[in-house]
Amino acid sequence: MNAQTAAATTTSAPMPPLRRSTRQARAASRIVLTGFMGSGKSTVGPLLAGELGWTFIDLDAEIERRTGLTVPQIFSEQGEAAFRKEETAALAAVLGRTRTVIALGGGAPETLGNRLLLEQTPATAIVYLAAPFATLAGRCAEQSANVRPNFADPVAAEARFASRHPIYSRLAHVSIETEGLTPEDSAAAVLASVAVKTSAA
Ligand code: S3P
Repeated sequence: MNAQTAAATTTSAPMPPLRRSTRQARAASRIVLTGFMGSGKSTVGPLLAGELGWTFIDLDAEIERRTGLTVPQIFSEQGEAAFRKEETAALAAVLGRTRTVIALGGGAPETLGNRLLLEQTPATAIVYLAAPFATLAGRCAEQSANVRPNFADPVAAEARFASRHPIYSRLAHVSIETEGLTPEDSAAAVLASVAVKTSAA
């Protein structure tokens, strides 16, 4: 496997460099995309799944399906802690599936239990789609402000980004710098960087 790790650049606050701290131990039966809001997980994921002939699961959509509520509704009616519980339950439920690409919500890796679930599920390749905060903020601004409760306050969002970047970087087997890449380019970069199991197992 050729891991692709690129140095991060930023147009706003400096980001610690991307680092690759773990190795993908064996060919993957599932690929998990992680990264901050706006990193393209939900756009790149279906492209990747399409290329592989695998299933795509968006964890936020799975939470919405399980609860019958939208993510903003869960945040406003029950609070973030309740959302995180649903997120862990949904992650545990989908992680057993093979030949699947899973897009995590941006906050999922902050929960220790979620990191343990991800690290301890065999044949799981974790890929960090990285981009500078300014780029992520620009992408999120193009979308409806109601979609992401945790991007409502840009100053708080940048602080979250600063604390999460090292978590994503440490958790992932592969980090891809997506600045300047199309979603198709990013999907191709993931495919070039991750060894996947080709049999139906
Ligand atoms: C969140 C990210 C969102 C969603 C929720 C909280 C976060 O997912 O899970 O709004 O805390 O970063 P995306 O990263 O897909 O936007």
